[in-house]
Amino acid sequence: MEDSNNISRKLPGSFYNTISLIGAGIAALSFAAILFLFLVEAFAETSTPYLGIINLIVFPIILIVGLLLVPLGMWREHRRRAHAQALPSLPRVDLNIPHHRRMVMITVTVLTVFLLFTGVGSYHAYEFSESTTFCGQTCHTVMEPEYVAYQNSPHARVTCAGCHVGSGAGWYVQSKLAGAYQVYSVLFKKYSQPIPTPIENLRPARETCEQCHWPQAFFGNKQDTRVHFMKDEANTRWAYNLLIKIGGGNPEEGHTSGIHWHMNISNKIEYFASDEAREVIPWVRSTNSKGEVTVYSSDPELLAGTMDPLKLRRMDCIDCHNRPAHIFAAPNIALNKIMNNGLIDMSLPSIKATAVEALTPEYETKAAALAAIDSTIHAFYQNGYPEVATEKQAQITAAVARVQDIYAKNNFPYMKSNWRSYPNHIGHYLSAGCYRCHDGQHQTADGKVLTNDCNTCHLIIEQGDGVTVNESNLQGLEFKHPIDIGEEWKTTSCHECHGAAAGL
Ligand code: HEC
Ligand code: HEC
Ligand code: HEC
Ligand code: HEC
Ligand code: HEC
Ligand code: HEC
Repeated sequence: MEDSNNISRKLPGSFYNTISLIGAGIAALSFAAILFLFLVEAFAETSTPYLGIINLIVFPIILIVGLLLVPLGMWREHRRRAHAQALPSLPRVDLNIPHHRRMVMITVTVLTVFLLFTGVGSYHAYEFSESTTFCGQTCHTVMEPEYVAYQNSPHARVTCAGCHVGSGAGWYVQSKLAGAYQVYSVLFKKYSQPIPTPIENLRPARETCEQCHWPQAFFGNKQDTRVHFMKDEANTRWAYNLLIKIGGGNPEEGHTSGIHWHMNISNKIEYFASDEAREVIPWVRSTNSKGEVTVYSSDPELLAGTMDPLKLRRMDCIDCHNRPAHIFAAPNIALNKIMNNGLIDMSLPSIKATAVEALTPEYETKAAALAAIDSTIHAFYQNGYPEVATEKQAQITAAVARVQDIYAKNNFPYMKSNWRSYPNHIGHYLSAGCYRCHDGQHQTADGKVLTNDCNTCHLIIEQGDGVTVNESNLQGLEFKHPIDIGEEWKTTSCHECHGAAAGL
């Protein structure tokens, strides 16, 4: 009856109103656009993160709005007609009438197809929102430091969500809520530079790292040679060959020793950090498998008082491995590595010292840094070694490029992200790391000192420059510092002279 005035129309008359027609047009266009972009993505060689955002988030929203406009318009139109003709306010559906049957069929088909696509689409959207591209690349400048460092890390093939979200719906929802806030903070520039670390509500390592790294695994000792080059004219090489006692904590195998003893399931270490960055730890308590409790503190007042349990954090993987994926290398370390790999000409006098000097200042922008690195190094040879500057021009230029590359991979002036803002807690050379607790200052009420013995965590099995000093002993050597600092190293921690604390 409704469309008796226009037989050629296949759809109910109430469909033919401005709102529904516009809605249908919008829906059809965005649907076509989505299909088109899927094809583009399938055949394109490279993909940009924005394509994903547009195709999986923006267009589907437009599509849904369009689809919602159709019934809205129809409802309004129906009401208008019902009002005019004094009909019931809701349409009557009678399946005996062929025209009504056809209508119901069309509606059901359209809805089914739509739901199918929505299912596939939301799965893709879910996958995409968890992808490294989405997390690492869409908000470029903000995530650039973490993303670039991640790509150069041992975890470059683990997705961001693998560590930051993990599996299960609870953390998924929590991370998306946090994510929504992050999108807002990026859009309105409300984020802080650098992004604060540690992450307050990072999922417990038990549920993320341990998906891949079985906590009971026993690692034994790991041998690793640390090669250094000194800041003298000859760039003298100096190396330590360490046997790091990683160990493990599987009581069933009888192996419960070494560094990974901390994560032994039957041991519990809790600590109180007096700063947000957890760099200063004046109080720590260990509870062993027998339930015996030992409290160590560097502050007699804290030791005498009682500790508020709410202020405590239970130690897990992240407290040592705080940089498994975002490692911002210090100039000294990054240079040692590429020099050891022969990527810089070692015959250039004082190249180590000069390169460290060029990398050390906090530059305002990346461009300024790259220019300053170029001019500092060239000027050094032109002023100090004019013959070298002319004879080895090519090697100097190559060295400059390497040093600039180190800068670009580890320093992000816009976000103020670098090795100083993100210290690494493994070791004790550039930042306090293990020495936040093992500095020899933490003791129990009856004077037992938390171990600070050099051989507790590793043995130095070889050391020296290989020429004047070349010592080796599998039982462990007494540490020898490359330049004479007397007994200083016994009382002063390495990082106090070598790290950010030393103004490097
Ligand atoms: C191997 C695990 C792992 C992977 C993979 C990973 N992260 Fe992280 N991320 C961490 C840990 C651990 C921290 C430091 C947490 C802490 O100290 O509380 C961190 C910290 C961060 C921070 C805070 C700033 C900082 O550097 O401390 C950001 C931002 C971040 N990650 C982004 C990303 C992005 C983007 C990706 C993917 C491109 C990613 N992460 C992949 C483990 C990971
Ligand atoms: C999805 C699996 C996966 C997750 C999750 C994961 N890792 Fe790994 N991790 C790996 C793989 C694979 C390697 C070996 C990489 C290699 O040898 O290059 C590795 C290597 C490491 C290493 C040795 C790095 C080195 O320098 O050789 C450490 C330490 C480590 N992971 C710690 C962590 C911590 C801490 C977390 C949690 C924040 C974590 N991993 C989460 C897969 C994972
Ligand atoms: C007390 C500090 C500490 C804690 C806690 C800790 N680790 Fe480690 N871990 C170390 C040190 C130190 C090394 C050796 C350093 C190196 O390789 O540079 C290491 C090495 C590793 C390695 C590399 C082993 C290899 O053969 O190269 C993996 C993987 C690892 N840890 C995973 C974990 C996981 C997973 C957790 C949490 C369940 C964890 N660690 C907790 C200090 C710690
Ligand atoms: C939050 C404080 C804290 C930090 C940080 C810390 N430790 Fe410990 N560590 C302890 C406590 C507490 C004990 C247990 C002492 C006891 O027996 O009561 C311990 C014990 C040890 C032991 C002796 C285990 C055994 O076999 O008896 C080793 C080895 C060790 N830590 C290595 C490290 C290394 C390496 C790091 C840095 C990567 C580190 N620790 C960082 C608190 C800490
Ligand atoms: C609580 C554990 C612990 C104690 C105590 C400790 N160290 Fe270490 N040290 C480490 C760890 C862990 C590393 C390896 C860090 C890494 O993987 O980069 C390390 C690294 C080193 C290195 C190599 C640094 C480099 O990069 O070349 C030297 C040298 C060293 N330690 C000397 C000493 C001396 C000397 C003492 C005693 C005064 C000492 N350590 C006490 C845990 C410890
Ligand atoms: C009292 C200050 C002081 C202490 C403490 C100290 N160093 Fe040094 N260290 C120096 C000075 C000064 C140099 C010379 C500068 C140079 O050649 O880099 C140096 C040079 C080095 C070098 C060679 C060059 C380089 O920077 O790579 C190594 C390796 C080194 N120290 C390791 C250590 C270790 C490991 C510890 C802790 C166990 C330590 N130092 C403690 C002052 C100190």
